[in-house]
Amino acid sequence: MNGVHDVLAPAGPQAAALFQLWNTMLVACVVVFALTIVALAIAVWRAPRATERAKPDLDPHPRKEATLRRSVLWGIAGSSLLLVVLLFASFFADRALSALPLEDAVHIDLVGHQFWWEARYESHAPELTFATANELHVPVGRPVLVRLRADDVIHSFWVPSLTGKKDLIPGRDSTIALRADRAGTYRGQCAEFCGYQHAHMALVVVAEPPADYERWLALQRAPARPPQSSQEQRGLALVEETSCAMCHAIAGTRARGRRAPDLTHVASRGWLGAGAVANTPALRAEWIANAQKFKPGINMPPLDAAPDDLAAMSAYLGSLR
Ligand code: CUA
Repeated sequence: MNGVHDVLAPAGPQAAALFQLWNTMLVACVVVFALTIVALAIAVWRAPRATERAKPDLDPHPRKEATLRRSVLWGIAGSSLLLVVLLFASFFADRALSALPLEDAVHIDLVGHQFWWEARYESHAPELTFATANELHVPVGRPVLVRLRADDVIHSFWVPSLTGKKDLIPGRDSTIALRADRAGTYRGQCAEFCGYQHAHMALVVVAEPPADYERWLALQRAPARPPQSSQEQRGLALVEETSCAMCHAIAGTRARGRRAPDLTHVASRGWLGAGAVANTPALRAEWIANAQKFKPGINMPPLDAAPDDLAAMSAYLGSLR
């Protein structure tokens, strides 16, 4: 699936703080590991070789005992000091995560479902509020406050290029703040096992310059584009008449379901089924016919429809930019 998914390529201040912590711990652990191996090698090299005839060395040796005690004490002191340093490093990284100023933040409500992400961009004006799925857009350089809610089981929000993880626990809403400082497409992944299709629960975050973001907002707020060709009209009629409309919503049509991703602007998204398949006409038709083939165990039932009908539905949905 497209998009950067890399803890080692931070694109925002919080991911950068985590990356720095990771580097600190890596260096500390490598140095400790190397010193331990060197000490072990010296000990092995200096140990006296015993033969079958050598008498066991059981005599206490005051000078050797004193050296041994001193080495152990130095070892304990060194390890404790290092652990305290790492503790502080982790503490400061944590502080950096919550230090993001949130004035002028974009507010997004994100709900984790088995196995997709429902996103709602709230606005003070109800008519400007809209829902989308599995793909967030955020403006570069502006903080984003994501409110996290789980609908069914525990999921975990994780977009490593932007910030750390946060669990979505049913009944315990939480928030996570982030900021993208570089334009790009960042891949996120549900990071808490939530069932059969946990691995296919991707989230894409598109960070774009403010002007592009505003354009995207305006597009998402607009009602669904009316069908133009006769094929698209047939597609809409089929979507409204079949089981699609029971779960999906398309603003301005008779499809008003709320249990599945909002399709008002589905063609503006690159993927279907939370990263399961690319949103192309042919794959879209296959997905409508039998999504179970791509993502077994999801709630979307197969649809017994003629190839022509599937093509019409796919064409209509493909027109919903
Ligand atoms: Cu949702 Cu794993």
